[in-house]
Amino acid sequence: MKILISCLITMSMFYGIANGSPPADPIKCSNKNLDCTIQNTFGSFPDRTICHAAEVAYPTTEEQLISIVANATMLKRKMKVATKTSHSIPKVMCPEGENGLIISTKLLDQTVSVDQSGLTMTVQPGMELRDLISKAAAAGMALPYAPYWWGVTVGGMLGTGAHGSSLWGSGSAVHDYVVRLRVVSPAGADEGYAKVRTLESGDPDLDAAKVSLGVLGVISQVTLKLQPNFKRSITFLEKNDSDLAYQVLTFGKEHEFADFNWLPSQRKVVYRIDDRVPTNSSGNGLNDFIGFRSTSSLLLAGLRTIEAGEEMTKNANGKCISGASNTLALTTSAYGYTNDGILFTGYPVVGYHNRLQASGSCLNGIQDALFTACPWDPRVEGLFYFQTAFSIGLSKVKGFIEDVQSLVNLVPKALCGLDIYNGILMRYVTNSSAYLGKQEDGLDFDITYYRSKDPTKPRLYEDVLEEIEQMAMFKYRALPHWGKNRNVAFIGAIEKYAKYNEFLRVKNAYDPDGLFSSEWSDQILGLKEGISIVKNGCALEGLCICSQDIHCAPESGYFCRPGRIYKEARVCRFSSS
Ligand SMILES: Cc1cc2nc3c(=O)[nH]c(=O)nc-3n(C[C@H](O)[C@H](O)[C@H](O)COP(=O)(O)OP(=O)(O)OC[C@H]3O[C@@H](n4cnc5c(N)ncnc54)[C@H](O)[C@@H]3O)c2cc1C
Ligand SMILES: *[C@@H]1O[C@H](CO)[C@@H](O)[C@H](O)[C@H]1NC(C)=O
Ligand SMILES: *[C@@H]1O[C@H](CO)[C@@H](O)[C@H](O)[C@H]1NC(C)=O
Ligand SMILES: *[C@@H]1O[C@H](CO)[C@@H](O)[C@H](O)[C@H]1NC(C)=O
Ligand SMILES: *[C@@H]1O[C@H](CO)[C@@H](O)[C@H](O)[C@H]1NC(C)=O
Repeated sequence: MKILISCLITMSMFYGIANGSPPADPIKCSNKNLDCTIQNTFGSFPDRTICHAAEVAYPTTEEQLISIVANATMLKRKMKVATKTSHSIPKVMCPEGENGLIISTKLLDQTVSVDQSGLTMTVQPGMELRDLISKAAAAGMALPYAPYWWGVTVGGMLGTGAHGSSLWGSGSAVHDYVVRLRVVSPAGADEGYAKVRTLESGDPDLDAAKVSLGVLGVISQVTLKLQPNFKRSITFLEKNDSDLAYQVLTFGKEHEFADFNWLPSQRKVVYRIDDRVPTNSSGNGLNDFIGFRSTSSLLLAGLRTIEAGEEMTKNANGKCISGASNTLALTTSAYGYTNDGILFTGYPVVGYHNRLQASGSCLNGIQDALFTACPWDPRVEGLFYFQTAFSIGLSKVKGFIEDVQSLVNLVPKALCGLDIYNGILMRYVTNSSAYLGKQEDGLDFDITYYRSKDPTKPRLYEDVLEEIEQMAMFKYRALPHWGKNRNVAFIGAIEKYAKYNEFLRVKNAYDPDGLFSSEWSDQILGLKEGISIVKNGCALEGLCICSQDIHCAPESGYFCRPGRIYKEARVCRFSSS
């Protein structure tokens, strides 16, 4: 078994070839642009529903966009902005009601202007990060911090507060580099039913619009503050995790692009030692992260079958072996980094920022040629997972890491499954003036883990991850990533934002009838009940915190129990008796 897994993983790296199949269009209509559904890129929302819209519009200019918003406002239609990528996990991009209109930014993906002397670039919101990076580099400039995956759009990154990792400069969130944006919102008849506002740095409304969850209207243009392109030097260093809780407090101050890949069950952590170097340093390194490469559908199916089998037979040892093999495969292949675009010959990897900051080669290729695909593409039997992502303030993060380590000491094999998804990615984020942005400097934890295709099937050691999720959100008052997570992470979340009333003030001024709001946005903004969906088995999918056994899977031996370290937690635990 061990050999089979390492074989599959090793093969998958060599088969990670350039030509894959880009993801399917998230919007499907039965009649031209009418009678549509929208899904996220995983093909599954946390509650597994499918969102409907009566119509989708594809504006190509701001003028068209204004006319679309005006027409819909006149008719009091509910609207929602959707992207070509639709990468958020929760239902942030779903419009509401029978007559909902999706306004897609798919065709709003152009550069508006480039100002090399002022170091800014103005783009339309549908531009993907990949294009932004390459167009900025062509003008000798770079966006210093951004997500590591380039298949997201500028509007979507702002919508959900997306980020990379840094404590330096203005921090790692893309929205903290916005110096100006334009937003089209509903208006009264006297203003022609739509109004365009230009918001510049210093305008308090910009602090609402730069992380807006899409509820203020449609952002039609974004101006980003860039830097002259530069070079970086990257070394990954593996250590044990004994002193991780202390290291996280200083490491990010020492290295500009620091992050951590924590493998708690292996008691290991990989430190990213990553700094700017002079542009005359030699090296033409490239990041083509293995997890974002096109992968053979057969290999993906093989890996999924092994993982599902380990789940079904409660084979914790098997998961630990699979996890460790994955780690070994990734570390020996330098995660997909090369020193010159072809070969990895050793650390440090030195190169231009635009070639290292993000990747996503599985987006290349021909639509529907499904021999290879992005590993999570729902059209192939590949990865299917939950993602719990949250940030904890640096003042509190030590306690959280120690609590997780105490859990690992009590249940050593419980977190092995994370290593199949490359462990816990920990990235630095900073406080932001955005009302729905981070409230203090902190560390963001990205935890990816197995999700069953069958919502009634419990997961191996799911109690431990549920305890970590609840401990983060309630004991350490973590802030959820708006574009990831299961419902549980959003319970009471809005109260953790000191200025959320300011956000609501702007929302009411820009869209008094809530035409850009939906049940989901009202729920996460604390305006409506229903974030918790209480029903049989709800805790298995993170739709509720269990309070009775029926919220777990008593027929499979999973009962609602208190947490081991965080006693206030209520989790679904297997008990054989
Ligand atoms: C493989 C993968 C890797 C990822 N890596 C990272 C990472 O490294 N860091 C990170 O922070 N996140 C990461 N994410 C999460 C991702 O960044 C967020 O979910 C992102 O916001 C999604 O962008 P999108 O363009 O697909 O927007 P969508 O998910 O389609 O939309 C997000 C929200 O923005 C709104 N919106 C979009 N455009 C506009 C507009 N023009 N005007 C108003 N509202 C708008 C939408 O209505 C919606 O509410 C990753 C996700 C995946 C699948
Ligand atoms: C808006 O409505 C007007 C009048 O009904 C119509 O002529 C126009 O085509 C509509 N525009 C859009 C973009 O739907
Ligand atoms: C972890 O590594 C440090 C040195 O970096 C060492 O002193 C310590 O003993 C190690 N801890 C364990 C548990 O191996
Ligand atoms: C890079 O440039 C600096 C300043 O011009 C110079 O001192 C240094 O020697 C150069 N380094 C290399 C590797 O060429
Ligand atoms: C972040 O916090 C620091 C220290 O409290 C403060 O000086 C700074 O103005 C804050 N930054 C933003 C963008 O709010």
